[in-house]
Amino acid sequence: MYKIAVIPGDGTGPEVINEALKVMKAVSQKCNFNYETIMYDFGGTRYLRTGETLPASAIKELKKADAILLGAIGHPDVKPGILEKGILLKLRFDLHQYINLRPVKLYPGVWTPLKDKGPEDIDFIVVRENNEGLYVGEGKFIKKGTKDEVALQVSRNSRKGIDRCLKFAFDLTQERNKRKKLTLCGKTNVLTYAFDLWYRAFTEMAKKYPKVTTDYAHVDAICMWMVKNPEWFDVIVTDNMFGDIITDLAAMIQGGMGIAAGGNLNPEGVSMFEPIGGSAPKYTGKNVINPLAAISAGMMLLDHLGEKEAAKKIEKSIIEVTSTKLKSLAAGKMGYGTTEVGDLVVQFL
Ligand code: IPM
Ligand code: MN
Repeated sequence: MYKIAVIPGDGTGPEVINEALKVMKAVSQKCNFNYETIMYDFGGTRYLRTGETLPASAIKELKKADAILLGAIGHPDVKPGILEKGILLKLRFDLHQYINLRPVKLYPGVWTPLKDKGPEDIDFIVVRENNEGLYVGEGKFIKKGTKDEVALQVSRNSRKGIDRCLKFAFDLTQERNKRKKLTLCGKTNVLTYAFDLWYRAFTEMAKKYPKVTTDYAHVDAICMWMVKNPEWFDVIVTDNMFGDIITDLAAMIQGGMGIAAGGNLNPEGVSMFEPIGGSAPKYTGKNVINPLAAISAGMMLLDHLGEKEAAKKIEKSIIEVTSTKLKSLAAGKMGYGTTEVGDLVVQFL
């Protein structure tokens, strides 16, 4: 009996999470496993009502779960940064989810803006460091509000933080049945402290993985090649900020936010899975948002729990839906409503 904590969150979060739970329930019956869900109302609505982002007990309670499923955090009436720092980033940091795993896979039938590229070309994984870098929130203002004002924002990169991230990426590349190529994405020509350390750690660790081919590219070049030659990539490893940026680009070439999901992993603790798009306030309550990203997050969650067969069934079913049913993956253009897409996935299981 798994314990799954569910945080539907804001905007369209609850709608897409409903569909993910619908699919998970159906697949659990087919694959004979059980779970209970524990619902949490963290998000902008709760914050506006109570003034609290996460209650003090939240982290302790969530640590007891086997996994967390998150919808979306973000509210148009809350100043940027409050919910992100107070909920999403706090969960990632306090639960030591030091990996942000982003599979980028173009499914058959899904439109990509890349001309002449298909599912055989777009199939890679980004491993983003998820606890350090610019996201630590270190910095200060000097002479704030004056014409001489300066803002400092520190990127923290510890050897231990880098090594545990690289180890995950090397292991994944070795296990993955592809080209076994790991690309470090950095900016060694400008960020001569941070990426000097990343590069040294990377080349050192590479010696322990003779089966893995390694490669290095600057982040700007990665952006170029992701559009020009996405087939070059197998696994990409990078820091928190670059990982954030390149995974939005990556999401677009796999069909957009309607399908893109990710995992915040603590390989030694509790991990959290989420569709990577935001709360999409303008689509809220209209039954038009695409639930496939949330359903994919549910799939990753089950895979992570060891329910490999269930995860495979969900992926097959999603492919069936994208290749034979949906007109588009964009909100309001699918040819079906949110709940119908969930039903279709269940039907094809
Ligand atoms: C993401 C998001 C978050 C991030 C925001 C909402 C803080 O963009 O999960 O990629 O920057 O990590
Ligand atoms: Mn992002």
